[in-house]
Amino acid sequence: MEYFTTTSKPSVRAVDCAIVGIYSRGKLGAGASELDAASRGEIRQLIKSGDISSKLGRCTMLNGVSGVKARRVAVVGLGKSSDFGAREFRKAVAAAATAISKTKVRQVLNCLTLEAVAGASPYYLARHSVETIGDTLYRFDKMKSGRKPAASPLKKIGFSIAQRADAANTLRGAEHGGAIVTGASLAKDLGNLPPNVCTPSYLARTAKKLAAGNGKLTTRVLNEAEMKRLGMGSLLSVTAGTAEPARLIVMRYKGAGNKKPVVLVGKGVTFDAGGISLKPGLGMDEMKFDMCGAASVIGTMATVAHLKLPINLNVVVPAVENLPSGTATKPGDIVKSMSGQTIEVLNTDAEGRLILCDALTYSRRFKPAAIIDVATLTGACVVALGAHRTAVMSNDDDLRSELVAAGESAEDRAWPMPLGDEYAQQLKSNFADMSNIGGPGGGAVTAGCFLGKFTKGMTWAHMDIAGTAWKSGAKKGASGRPVPLLSEMLLARCNALP
Ligand code: BES
Ligand code: MN
Ligand code: ZN
Repeated sequence: MEYFTTTSKPSVRAVDCAIVGIYSRGKLGAGASELDAASRGEIRQLIKSGDISSKLGRCTMLNGVSGVKARRVAVVGLGKSSDFGAREFRKAVAAAATAISKTKVRQVLNCLTLEAVAGASPYYLARHSVETIGDTLYRFDKMKSGRKPAASPLKKIGFSIAQRADAANTLRGAEHGGAIVTGASLAKDLGNLPPNVCTPSYLARTAKKLAAGNGKLTTRVLNEAEMKRLGMGSLLSVTAGTAEPARLIVMRYKGAGNKKPVVLVGKGVTFDAGGISLKPGLGMDEMKFDMCGAASVIGTMATVAHLKLPINLNVVVPAVENLPSGTATKPGDIVKSMSGQTIEVLNTDAEGRLILCDALTYSRRFKPAAIIDVATLTGACVVALGAHRTAVMSNDDDLRSELVAAGESAEDRAWPMPLGDEYAQQLKSNFADMSNIGGPGGGAVTAGCFLGKFTKGMTWAHMDIAGTAWKSGAKKGASGRPVPLLSEMLLARCNALP
């Protein structure tokens, strides 16, 4: 995607489509007002005749408006001008993008960036325009046969700005937004792929491909024999029931010399049937999304590499299938983790923590500045926070606040949940150092406490994305979250934000 800014009048720019907005009660937005003057009142006329709606989220595509160089004009409803804020701005951009997705528009000029949006900087408006357009235009149809609707040929996004001084931050916002779309789209693709395609080996190949031809990025993949030599008995106990080989994927991006890296660990269960503690059949297909933590950290690596950020970032992905069979781990089995701690596996469906604990122990070698694991870890988290916010738990107040704040700025929200010894007590086992489940209460927190037993001495946070990583129902599909949040955090850490 290419981006540009312009301070010239919207009517004089020859593009395939200009996006302008109108508020309720016939109030024209800045871009619409200029086009209306250039066309001697065509826009006002269409409002009067009821052909264009000012309702927030409506979009009317006009062709050949006289006196306007743009071939089409997308007129978007902005709702009441007194209610117009950042959320409404994104909704308006989404409406325009939906209309554009049905056309062959190659270049657009977004004039909505001329509107006053409370609390939103030029950087924000450009970045979220690009993210919203990317999210709206995303399609996953590679598994369908036959003729498919052509993908949008959109190549160029321009932004109308009121003053030259806003150009640099507008372009920066667009570039960051574009890189986040790249990372989030990769995360969506990996999530949406079926589990017979997106296996642990497939994730490993994807990570290797990302590193190919990038001098700053290397990918190393460990096989089961290597994991066994490292003592990863907990991780390997999860893969015991499947023929599909497990992988430990290690990506290292060096953009800041010898500085301590941020380490992202992503749960990569490419299918979670529950193991011997088999899940019920209804909706089990959605457990192909149980690798969305892995997808989001690999996607974030793609964003960082694309932007060539001056930061060191490592990504570690334990990738396995969790299936029942005669060789599978049984409830009651006791396994030994890489840390030396033993675990009584009381429920083979609590497998995420069993692979993450060994990946976290492995990551100690990197002496992380901060280590963050991202996982579709518990159904309890979905009960607690629903689909709107990712749960964040941490042994460090500053890191927890940093992540929650990054989620706010990135429009990819999170919420803090506690950890603590009262909860950790629930993991007691009569036979091993701990059990892998914490009983009926506080399931998201006890899962966090389990991981906390493997991160002592590191600055660590755990993000449970069980509710946010994908949508169910008619719009079933991966969301690409929390790529925006993680990218925001890394952008802020290397002072790349305005
Ligand atoms: N991958 C699931 C968590 C999950 C369930 C995410 C539903 C999204 C929707 C995880 O491996 C799991 O099965 N967790 C169990 C843990 C329990 C056995 C302690 C759960 O949440 O039921
Ligand atoms: Mn499970
Ligand atoms: Zn799982």
